[in-house]
Amino acid sequence: MVNRMSLSRRKLLGKLGAAAVAGAGINALAGSARAAQSMDMPMPPHRDGGTIYLDRNENAYGPSEQVVLAMRKSLARANRFPRNAAADLAGHIASFHKLKSQQIVAGCGSTDIFKSAVDAYLGPGKTLIISSPTFDVIGTQAAAAGANVVTVPLSRFWSNDLEGILGRVDASTGLIYICNPNNPTAILNSRSELEAFIAKVPANVRVIIDEAYHHFAGNSSSYASFIDRPVDDERMIVTRTFSKIYGLAGLRVGYAFAGAQTAQALRARSLQENISVVAADAAMAALADTQSLQANIERNSDNRQEFLNQAYARMMRPLDSHTNFVMFKTVRTADELIDHFKRNNILIGPMFPSMENYIRVSIGLPDEMKEFWRVWDMMPFINKMAM
Ligand SMILES: Cc1ncc(COP(=O)(O)O)c(C=O)c1O
Repeated sequence: MVNRMSLSRRKLLGKLGAAAVAGAGINALAGSARAAQSMDMPMPPHRDGGTIYLDRNENAYGPSEQVVLAMRKSLARANRFPRNAAADLAGHIASFHKLKSQQIVAGCGSTDIFKSAVDAYLGPGKTLIISSPTFDVIGTQAAAAGANVVTVPLSRFWSNDLEGILGRVDASTGLIYICNPNNPTAILNSRSELEAFIAKVPANVRVIIDEAYHHFAGNSSSYASFIDRPVDDERMIVTRTFSKIYGLAGLRVGYAFAGAQTAQALRARSLQENISVVAADAAMAALADTQSLQANIERNSDNRQEFLNQAYARMMRPLDSHTNFVMFKTVRTADELIDHFKRNNILIGPMFPSMENYIRVSIGLPDEMKEFWRVWDMMPFINKMAM
């Protein structure tokens, strides 16, 4: 059988030149790649198709070796229904975070839990309040459920405008969605701001705090997670995902910590046996593998810094990033950039409302980012100052 990894590496060497790959690029063939190779499993797709994926804020390194091994083991149980997989995973997550298991809900990605929240708290005559731009999957879900969607522009610092959101709350408000750090701007709202905000939200309104990028928020002193430092409040739904730092976007696993009755309402609206055996085992292994988690955090921080250095060298001033992506202003529109990169096999973006001259780029592997900057520099007059 042809080894797909060596094929991909050969392709890559041809594309970038041996010198470029000799350094950081080779380090990138780590973790899941090594595990995949040793088990003769296919490489992650970014290695196969030639396309570089910098558009969905995934973990380009893939799941850790421990997680790949756990998945392989659980494949042998694929003939059985998941039975208690979601409850087992919820129990595991609860003890990991030292929370009560009845307050944890596991879903097929956090967006699955958003859907349950939409079903529970929205519908015709009800309103969702959401920032713009933000990760607006829940806006689409709410509209499909017949609810009204109110959008509030981000603050001038590109964070959620919490006062502005409060100003739009009325009797029809069922749900408020806050992404922190916010996608696509990568900017944080502080813990104290959020606490003051929540105190002013009416008792019957649920608030989702989406912590998808929690692990990348790092050492900002003003930030604190509502899972790590929970508040016992029936209104709160705090979501996390395995799609980002843990490199499991394709498996679809996420979870929420919520008030006990709220958690019950969400669980009642989720699909029975929603989490597959493989996804549950992978998620549990990912939580246990704290060493890989730490390595991922550090690697992201180094790679993000290198990205910023490259941007500064081109006279650009990206927004301060607390995530695994960077948003920055350019002299071109996002659509022009997206087209240029797409023609060169790199996916970036998308374009976000009211930020047409900004582009969001996910941090990929070092050799992918070298290719990104090579393609960037092919654009005439692009490196003009854009503050
Ligand atoms: C803020 C935010 N929340 C949630 C998700 C997706 O979560 P999941 O894959 O768990 O459904 C994303 C993915 O891009 C995201 O950016």
